[in-house]
Amino acid sequence: MEYSTLIYEKREHYGLITLNRPDKLNALNFQLFTELNDVITNIELDESIYALIITGSGEKAFAAGADIGELNKSDIRSGKQFSEYGSKVMLKLEQLNIPVIAAINGFALGGGLELALSCHIRFASEKAKMGQPEVNLGIIPGYGATQRLPKIVGKAKAIELIISAKTIDAETAKSIGLVNEVFPHTELLDKTIEFVNLVLSKGPLAVSAAVKTINASENLTLQDGLSYESQIFGEVCGTQDFKEGTGAFLEKRNANFIGK
Ligand code: COA
Repeated sequence: MEYSTLIYEKREHYGLITLNRPDKLNALNFQLFTELNDVITNIELDESIYALIITGSGEKAFAAGADIGELNKSDIRSGKQFSEYGSKVMLKLEQLNIPVIAAINGFALGGGLELALSCHIRFASEKAKMGQPEVNLGIIPGYGATQRLPKIVGKAKAIELIISAKTIDAETAKSIGLVNEVFPHTELLDKTIEFVNLVLSKGPLAVSAAVKTINASENLTLQDGLSYESQIFGEVCGTQDFKEGTGAFLEKRNANFIGK
């Protein structure tokens, strides 16, 4: 599929998606969701990709939300479909078994913040501004903020942000646990890649198993989650990377992981 609303770069062992509608502050329209869905499917099938970064093109925005021009045409039935489609794509992103990192380079509002919430880690530029302004438009968030935001920042903060529609800066977002780190604007992507390279130096099967097991915790009781963790722990103990990692420690040398 040819992409017109995003750019996908497959770098050595990680992928970089750049949302690319800068004249519309990378607002998420139907075409962008279709392309995002396609690229996520390709990444799912690509065993040589061990991490994914998502950022926005242009100086101003990660993504300024769902495309309000498209949204404006919704009625009860199509509004539900509008929400379901975006949610489905974001859930698929969240359920990738590789670390997914949002590099929030500017406005992340509404659906833009929800896209970042469906990433596993959020790094922000010091210029980033975040919020859920949907109530300004007479709607509620439709791509998961009512469900994910309380888990990330707590129920009271999530309700405060959603019902006030207020926009917060990157440092405030960090102080409430909404973003992991804040970097100078010009260094955001480099710092994100630096983090990815750190992760890539670890055993890729172990990294992937960790993400998969943590993702599963969302839907499991503690008891079921612990037994799932034991099952996956056993599986990674059967890998060559496990023999290599533990062997390297005992031999006092660096491990050379091969992803098998
Ligand atoms: N949907 C569609 N278009 C959008 C958009 C969105 N969510 N957000 C911004 N745009 C468009 C603007 O309409 C404008 O297009 P135009 O040049 O053709 O008129 C362009 O992007 C630039 O935006 P503009 O508003 O001129 O930039 P700004 O710097 O003055 O303001 C924002 C930036 C983010 C504060 C402002 O664009 C905004 O409030 N956007 C909507 C945020 C929102 O409510 N998101 C939730 C949607 S559910």
